[in-house]
Amino acid sequence: LELYLDSANLADIKDLSHALPLAGVTTNPTLMAAGGMGLNRLLPALTDILGAEARFHVQVVGNTTDGIIAEARKLHALPFDIVVKIPAHAAGLAAIKQLKKTDVPILATAIYNVQQGMLAALNGADYLAPYVNRIDNLGFDGIKVVGDLQAFIHQYQLPGKLLVASFKNVRQVLQVLSHGVRAVTLPIDIARQFLATPATDTAVEQFNQDWRAAFADRLSYE
Ligand code: E4P
Repeated sequence: LELYLDSANLADIKDLSHALPLAGVTTNPTLMAAGGMGLNRLLPALTDILGAEARFHVQVVGNTTDGIIAEARKLHALPFDIVVKIPAHAAGLAAIKQLKKTDVPILATAIYNVQQGMLAALNGADYLAPYVNRIDNLGFDGIKVVGDLQAFIHQYQLPGKLLVASFKNVRQVLQVLSHGVRAVTLPIDIARQFLATPATDTAVEQFNQDWRAAFADRLSYE
């Protein structure tokens, strides 16, 4: 299972990296604008935090097929493990189809329905990113889209791997994992929810209170 943070905020990523087994980071133009840094500063700083094996999913901002292809090649030339995120619209799907003749790793992003994911997978995308919560907000069922896409990939033995994105609660994440999804990207607030352990904290506080009442500051091996 690959676990990513969906963020370009160095302080948040550093804070969460201590306890989470992160494969890397996913970004989009909105997140990078909020982070206030270009890739020239962001990627070295993230490598310092996450290590040289970290994988970065970085989105193109071009809208034409030729523009996307040129941008993807430039991103691929950077000295980091970069997967190029390309929107699964017509211009992006055409770019994915052409780029698959090269060795540029591709994530098809902004997937809102099964047919978009199907075309991206058939065109050779390495990763597919359906947006669970945004699909739900349109009145459809994001979890079902993920389940159907996962079944499609399995049925036709396609190499594309789902990297599911856009979550608004922990339950959505657990639901997609129960479909056999092998990569998810968590927004910062949801990642913090994963690390929230109120019942454990209460139990541990009681254990320690009982210990201190009996032995004060002694340690158990003393
Ligand atoms: C995924 O690739 C996008 O960066 C992102 O996950 C979209 O999620 P949001 O709906 O939380 O903005």
